[in-house]
Amino acid sequence: MSKQMSHLDNIPSTPGKFKMEKSPYVHNRLRWHSSLAKLTFWSFIFLGLILIFFFRSPSSNPLPQDPSRRSLRTYNWGGPAWEKRVRSSARVRSRNGISVLVTGAAGFVGTHVSAALKRRGDGVLGLDNFNDYYDPSLKRARQALLERTGVFIVEGDINDSALLRKLFEVVAFTHVMHLAAQAGVRYAMENPGSYVHSNIAGLVSLLEVCKSANPQPAIVWASSSSVYGLNTKVPFSERDRTDQPASLYAATKKAGEEIAHTYNHIYGLSLTGLRFFTVYGPWGRPDMAYFFFTRDILKGKSIPIFEAANHGTVARDFTYIDDIVKGCLAALDTAEKSTGSGGKKKGPAQLRVYNLGNTSPVPVSDLVSILERLLKVNAKRNIMKLPRNGDVQFTHANISLAQRELGYKPTTDLQTGLKKFVRWYLSYYSGGKKATG
Ligand SMILES: NC(=O)c1ccc[n+]([C@@H]2O[C@H](COP(=O)([O-])OP(=O)(O)OC[C@H]3O[C@@H](n4cnc5c(N)ncnc54)[C@H](O)[C@@H]3O)[C@@H](O)[C@H]2O)c1
Repeated sequence: MSKQMSHLDNIPSTPGKFKMEKSPYVHNRLRWHSSLAKLTFWSFIFLGLILIFFFRSPSSNPLPQDPSRRSLRTYNWGGPAWEKRVRSSARVRSRNGISVLVTGAAGFVGTHVSAALKRRGDGVLGLDNFNDYYDPSLKRARQALLERTGVFIVEGDINDSALLRKLFEVVAFTHVMHLAAQAGVRYAMENPGSYVHSNIAGLVSLLEVCKSANPQPAIVWASSSSVYGLNTKVPFSERDRTDQPASLYAATKKAGEEIAHTYNHIYGLSLTGLRFFTVYGPWGRPDMAYFFFTRDILKGKSIPIFEAANHGTVARDFTYIDDIVKGCLAALDTAEKSTGSGGKKKGPAQLRVYNLGNTSPVPVSDLVSILERLLKVNAKRNIMKLPRNGDVQFTHANISLAQRELGYKPTTDLQTGLKKFVRWYLSYYSGGKKATG
């Protein structure tokens, strides 16, 4: 690029200034030559401008700098070998098994759910855009783990309708487990567009393809406990108000619940929303407190512990990943078929929302004490005021509906779950990334 610029710089800016005293014949030839030179010169300028435009154009940049554009990358998919991998991954291997498209399969929850489905003999195909919201090498390690169990993760974005249509053309998925999303509460102030892209536009793109698929799949998707927002009535029940989100993340999840209602109402899609409460465990998300507290305690760095006004306790209903996976599988197994076909509703379809929590909130300072004991290192606690940028003071799930209708019963307490997380963490980060899973 700079070479081209310097080449262009060497050409005189005012051509034709050279004057030569020659015979008329020579003069005519010279005129002809000078026109040719002019033509060549302007052709170079034109070509140069095209090259400058081409190299500066954002669409030619595979990884745009603007974070909200990152997921607009193009991915390679298609072809007979690719279709064969898709079919083989989605093949049902047990009697009464289901075939599930798992979006966000390289994510924390997606990896665990995919592995559990595969273990039962269900057909599983993953889809993930491997974005860099957190260290993508962890997503790649999860992908490698799933690949060993026979799950293929297609690399692509849920906004890519052509890709989604192709997947439904190759496999008649009976179910979609939709976990792809932009997670995290505080990052929404940094990159709000990514929440709209994945949690709203992406959801609509997915539902559009599902509604037109024949047969339509049943869809189970991850909403969030954050929809309860500033609700103060505890424990949070599905009937409580959810119209006061405290973050853009929460607002996009709430919007997702309303969008789900619309697609159920108009197109007869069977839709189940699961409101997860602070999920933790092995292969977890590095942006979550239990994860980066562990990292920072081990590094001897101080960790921020928030307290609410008047020294109020900040508490979370921490839910172990295996309990969440059981809830997801139960939701898939109890999902009724969608009723539409050819994009038209044929009758009323199932529409459900469940809390999936542990129903025993723990103060964040207790979480730190458990980590200190497990890591055998004292934490440097930095007590800070809870910022008003999306976090709520506490979460507490009422899980009686999920208990009744899904047979959901969490069995792992925080102490036991964190022990498993810490064992994984130490083995993953100190054992040459060869985790035991
Ligand atoms: N972990 C929790 O505590 C928690 C709590 C409440 C709700 N949830 C929800 O559960 C789901 C799974 O969460 P997680 O903790 O596994 O998060 P995660 O970030 O680990 O997983 C999400 C995955 O989706 C992928 N993704 C994001 N946008 C995409 C797009 N446009 N197209 C394709 N793939 C895309 C990401 O690359 C990532 O691998 C999310 O919907 C999240 O909002 C999680």
